[in-house]
Amino acid sequence: MRTAIYPGTFDPITNGHLDVIRRCLSLFDRVVVAVAHREEKDPLFSVEERVEILKESLEKMKRVEVDQFDGLLVEYAKKKGAKAIIRGLRAVSDFEYEFQMALMNRRLDASIETVFLTPSEQHIFLSSSLVKEVVSLGGDVGGMVPQEVERRLREKFKQ
Ligand code: COA
Repeated sequence: MRTAIYPGTFDPITNGHLDVIRRCLSLFDRVVVAVAHREEKDPLFSVEERVEILKESLEKMKRVEVDQFDGLLVEYAKKKGAKAIIRGLRAVSDFEYEFQMALMNRRLDASIETVFLTPSEQHIFLSSSLVKEVVSLGGDVGGMVPQEVERRLREKFKQ
């Protein structure tokens, strides 16, 4: 059984993340989508809400598990029996940060590989922050996030 961890803040999940998860399922038997607490990012949704939203958005994907973690990612990956950490690479601007993280994680545990997947070009410009900004200003994010996420965002921003 090949397990991969797809970690992130997911505040909230976008269609770009979903695209990466689908690609990951074609390479691995099981994908654990792991919500990092990341209080320092001052998330709009609580950890519990982010987990709930992910579960709703991923319920049809049978080989996907949703979980949360705090602390070191490599320790969590080991606990889950994962040999790979999945990260999405959208543009060159993602590269330096992702490269640093991948090398640090390898230094911490050389048995776990980081695998980079690229979402389809229609999602390259997406980020959770931009989606939140657009909704907070009354804009339309249809096609960028699952419908349920759009509804929850409108509720948060009273749009
Ligand atoms: N489609 C759309 N958006 C995407 C995306 C995709 N395919 N892939 C990434 N993003 C966006 C996210 O929406 C997010 O946008 P935002 O900054 O506007 O919110 C941004 O890219 C990056 O966020 P995310 O992928 O959620 O990662 P992160 O940088 O918040 O989280 C962790 C990084 C959780 C993996 C990292 O902090 C970690 O491993 N923490 C645990 C502690 C640890 O082990 N530290 C040592 C690591 S070396």
